[in-house]
Amino acid sequence: MARKDVNYACQKCGAATSKWAGRCEGCGEWNTLVEEAVPESAPKGLGRKKGRRIEFEGLKGTSAHPPRQVTGINEFDRVTGGGMVQGSALLVGGDPGIGKSTLLMQVTAALSGTTQPIYISGEEAIDQLRLRADRLGVADAPVALAAATSVRDIVASLDGVTSGLVVIDSIQTMFVDSLESAPGTVSQVRTSAQELIRLAKRQGFALILVGHVTKDGQIAGPRVLEHMVDTVLYFEGDGSHQFRILRAVKNRFGATDEIGVFEMTGKGLAEVANPSAMFLADRDDDVSGASVFAGMEGSRPVLVEIQSLTASSALGTPRRAVVGWDSGRLSMILAVLESRAGLTLGNMDVYLNVVGGLKISEPAADLAVAVALVSSVSGVPVPRETVVFGEIGLSGEVRAVPQIDARLKEAAKLGFTRAIIPARRRSKGDSKENDRGKNMKVMEISRLEELMTLLSPPEGQRRHG
Ligand code: TYD
Ligand code: MG
Repeated sequence: MARKDVNYACQKCGAATSKWAGRCEGCGEWNTLVEEAVPESAPKGLGRKKGRRIEFEGLKGTSAHPPRQVTGINEFDRVTGGGMVQGSALLVGGDPGIGKSTLLMQVTAALSGTTQPIYISGEEAIDQLRLRADRLGVADAPVALAAATSVRDIVASLDGVTSGLVVIDSIQTMFVDSLESAPGTVSQVRTSAQELIRLAKRQGFALILVGHVTKDGQIAGPRVLEHMVDTVLYFEGDGSHQFRILRAVKNRFGATDEIGVFEMTGKGLAEVANPSAMFLADRDDDVSGASVFAGMEGSRPVLVEIQSLTASSALGTPRRAVVGWDSGRLSMILAVLESRAGLTLGNMDVYLNVVGGLKISEPAADLAVAVALVSSVSGVPVPRETVVFGEIGLSGEVRAVPQIDARLKEAAKLGFTRAIIPARRRSKGDSKENDRGKNMKVMEISRLEELMTLLSPPEGQRRHG
């Protein structure tokens, strides 16, 4: 009898090999290869049989805009691009315990006025779901609940559902009985998702799949699903902070990089309409080493505080610790400050923290980081009510960043009166100074050296670091 074919699939990236190895060749993770049965053999090639001719069409046509389901939860609707599109599939990923089930319970409840949303949980019992609904104050909403994990049963039960929303919480718990591998393995996750997405497209309901991201790679992360769905949202936050950010990383029906900000309260997730005010809430007056960065998250300006601490190091290799920003980028800024602006940091420990737990990825934060560092070394606080943004180049030049006006406007709205920004080349279409808020004193700088004069200690004052 022929030996049954086996295959090894990486539980992190989904790469398949015929041989087991300690390390996945695809993503380089250790101990992620798990034996899985080979899927039914794929056709060897096209063979002789001829296919049907496809009709080609022009770009211009009469396709209507797809109808969307608007929940009324603004922070959620914005991230989905103005509501979920009928017949589309969304993936909501995030660490366990971050609040995915809570968010989706609130979303289904919000939609229950217009359609009858369906919430299928493979993780919790009906009683648990009811308790949560109670806590969220939505126990009366007409949401159809089920605790199920068999995709065959779910597909049968969704027969005839042609609109509305179906939530599957989570895709890792679903299984297709024709596959031998356990729920949560790559082949199960992929096949279950495929079946459910196909059903959503055919019947026209919006489908939300919840996916866990685990650090150890034991369960198939939603990575393998990202190309199968239309929209990928990540729900982020860290345990020590109340706020949560919903971020679009892929959206076939809207812009990516949009964020929705929520706060986890005793009664579920509350929308945060003004995130800047929240991130700046606990700011201290006049401390050195802190600056306020006016950043952009998608189409919205968000102000956050950046703190740095420098201290002479007892170690041969000084420590560089960063929270909320890229450590490679920090090394670059330190090198530029050292070689172009003459700031000695080589023998100092450097700590950098983006306050509130937000993660910044914009290069526009460079200048705000540099300001925080210079202020920390010189001991001179950044003048109060100052926002900073700008990209820094390797030669020490301060480069322009997009959406300067939007950033300044948000800063003015929150009571900031000064800004340190990149020098602008003015063209005719540019707004005049006074359009950007009348009380804003804007300092445009083109080189990093100019910072040093701005933040140098007055004569006679001792430097401390
Ligand atoms: P949950 O939605 O179960 O997370 P996930 O589905 O992503 O695993 O939320 C888990 C956490 O949220 C849990 O630690 C309790 C907390 N929580 C609140 O603080 N307030 C609430 O109203 C609810 C429902 C949960
Ligand atoms: Mg959950």
